[in-house]
Amino acid sequence: MEQVVSYIDTNKERYLNELTELLAIPSVSSRKEHQGDMQQCAQWIADHMERIGMHSVKIFPTEGHPVVYSEWLEAPGMPTVLVYGHYDVQSEEPVNLWTSPPYQATVRGENLYARGSTDDKGQAFIHFKAVEALLKTNGSLPVNLKIIIEGEEEVGSEHLDSFLEEHKDLLQADLVLISDTSMFEKDVPSICYGLRGIAYMEIELSGPNRDLHSGSFGGSVHNPIQALAEIIASLHDDNGRVTIPGFYDDVRSLTKAERAAYKKLPFTDKKYAGGLGVKVLYGEKGFTTLERLWARPTLECNGIWGGYTGEGAKTVLPAKAFAKISMRLVPDQRSAKTAKLFEKHIKKIVPKTVTVNVRTLHGGEPAITPIDSPGVEAAVSALEKGFGKKPLYQREGGSIPIVVQFKKILGIDTVLLGFGLPDENAHAPDEFLDLNNFYGGIRTSAHFFNELPKFWRGKSKRR
Ligand code: BES
Ligand code: ZN
Repeated sequence: MEQVVSYIDTNKERYLNELTELLAIPSVSSRKEHQGDMQQCAQWIADHMERIGMHSVKIFPTEGHPVVYSEWLEAPGMPTVLVYGHYDVQSEEPVNLWTSPPYQATVRGENLYARGSTDDKGQAFIHFKAVEALLKTNGSLPVNLKIIIEGEEEVGSEHLDSFLEEHKDLLQADLVLISDTSMFEKDVPSICYGLRGIAYMEIELSGPNRDLHSGSFGGSVHNPIQALAEIIASLHDDNGRVTIPGFYDDVRSLTKAERAAYKKLPFTDKKYAGGLGVKVLYGEKGFTTLERLWARPTLECNGIWGGYTGEGAKTVLPAKAFAKISMRLVPDQRSAKTAKLFEKHIKKIVPKTVTVNVRTLHGGEPAITPIDSPGVEAAVSALEKGFGKKPLYQREGGSIPIVVQFKKILGIDTVLLGFGLPDENAHAPDEFLDLNNFYGGIRTSAHFFNELPKFWRGKSKRR
């Protein structure tokens, strides 16, 4: 491993340049105008897989964006790892708030700034480079490896389920390894064992049959923006609880042990609030901030629009108002059921003065992953070697919808080994990746593949 680590060190510069190339492709999965970029990005990854020495590289078209597959299966008797990542990113908007252009990766201080740097191109790339270092140094890997990189994670992984169904044999493995989460904080590596699910909704409220002069008509009809604001405001009570009937019915309670463990983590509300620039935090009464983030469901308005929002004033009473609302879910809530509860409730409370249309945009189930597995033991050992520190165990508030599907469709548990940081501005302007975590991540990934067979011995094997 010494030689592997020194290979990584010698090739630091080139690794960074290659990542810069990958980050230059604006692979925004939600936008039709980026369809060509999605293809190009998949191709870039496929070419890269060939270059680092992976075999059977293939781009699988789906009904949405393509999946890139590759494998290296020449370690008979050794466990098989399925690495998953995503090459799609969320839109760079608002672009004027970026310090440097979102698709021109720029180093400032110890960070690399670009859309996708931490979520998730940079983190997926960490494994590519560990594989390269192992293959170029040793001519082989200590484990069997399959890699799939998809292009629809940021829009709910809609077509990945059927991809898993159709390629059950091809994707058979002993464990899934994903780096698409964060460490607890800088220099505090962690293993994530829980993710929230999501139900993403859109509301369209219609009032009058056309935009109206707000002087001539104001006072005679219910402004749909006002009606929408009233609806959204009513979705939380004074205790910060979601008011949709049945919303909390299936929520699994936190165990005493979990609550006690979270209290021991190095976290204070004051520091957290300070980092976010808010004076006081907000959330469901009766729970700590970490509990609310990781183990309680929430409802957020992601966007609201309608009427006139351009420069200067325009006196208009708009015909329509819209909102995008997402609900983060925890075990044992279900996305489709929650979406139905939401729709039913909105239709019940909407005033007679307007009409409503509720749509589900996407969904994903919450996940809890085992922490007493050989994969997690190997990850702990690898983090100690890569970062010189024992990791702590945490959950996260974000969602990776495919984690549950790996278990359901393929029967495989996931190890969530995140190299991001919670303040790296994922989905926002000035997204960045801490370069210490980039290189530490590559070392850790190489160690993980090297450690896994040791922990696997004597453990039950799938094949
Ligand atoms: N990398 C994130 C998931 C994540 C976020 C994990 C924060 C831990 C902490 C992932 O790429 C993501 O953003 N997923 C979406 C999924 C959704 C669109 C279905 C999310 O959580 O918003
Ligand atoms: Zn994301």
